[in-house]
Amino acid sequence: MSTSNNAFSETERRGVYRAIHERRDVRSQFLPDRIPTAVLDRLLEAAHHAPSVGYMQPWDFIIIESQEARAAILAMFEQENQKAAERFEGEQKEHYRSLKLQGIMESPLNLCITCDRSRGGPHVLGRNSIVDTDLFSTCLAVQNLWLAARAEGIGVGWVSILDQAQLSAVLSLPEHVYPLAYLCLGYVSEFLDQPELEAKGWRSRLPLSELLHGDKWGQPLHRG
Ligand SMILES: Cc1cc2nc3c(=O)[nH]c(=O)nc-3n(C[C@H](O)[C@H](O)[C@H](O)COP(=O)(O)O)c2cc1C
Repeated sequence: MSTSNNAFSETERRGVYRAIHERRDVRSQFLPDRIPTAVLDRLLEAAHHAPSVGYMQPWDFIIIESQEARAAILAMFEQENQKAAERFEGEQKEHYRSLKLQGIMESPLNLCITCDRSRGGPHVLGRNSIVDTDLFSTCLAVQNLWLAARAEGIGVGWVSILDQAQLSAVLSLPEHVYPLAYLCLGYVSEFLDQPELEAKGWRSRLPLSELLHGDKWGQPLHRG
């Protein structure tokens, strides 16, 4: 039996890799057009089909349309971003300050993906040794949504320069629910062909060849 029996067709595979390579974190190119409910539902279904430890499905989705909530979150971002800038010196500080690191008000939709750390009870299958596997699972839901959004022509920007306790208060989250990802979503004028941080000279993609090890850390990988 051929090893490719279970593979997608050539065209489908190209679509998957295209979504992976052309996904971008978007902050600057949002258009005001509303995301139709049916499209948003597809994105949420994609997120909801992520793998999760013990099939825990720890995620919830808070869709934020209110301008007041967004303004509060933007103010929170400004405060945290100011603190972040102070960590750099001189030219790098100026460079940091020139970067646009959120699209909270311009994007038509903000979405917080949370992680309910108590879902499934105290003993979730597979979560004994590494308790944070619920957080890892929720990150995978974010990535599913991010890739599906790219296929739909929708940009997503992850805003993490936020105080998580303040964010939890604005969103009225219970104690056991963690605000894992605050995302800005919308159709875009364009997807940049490289990460914005790379285009702005902040950091480049590392060569994959430098990240490969054979058997042990630091040992070269020999390929047959
Ligand atoms: C966990 C996480 C948090 C991030 N937080 C921010 C953020 O607060 N602001 C921002 O502009 N980009 C944020 N990003 C986006 C990264 O800067 C971006 O993924 C990276 O520069 C690579 O670009 P690309 O996503 O377009 O490939 C975040 C990404 C991740 C995965």
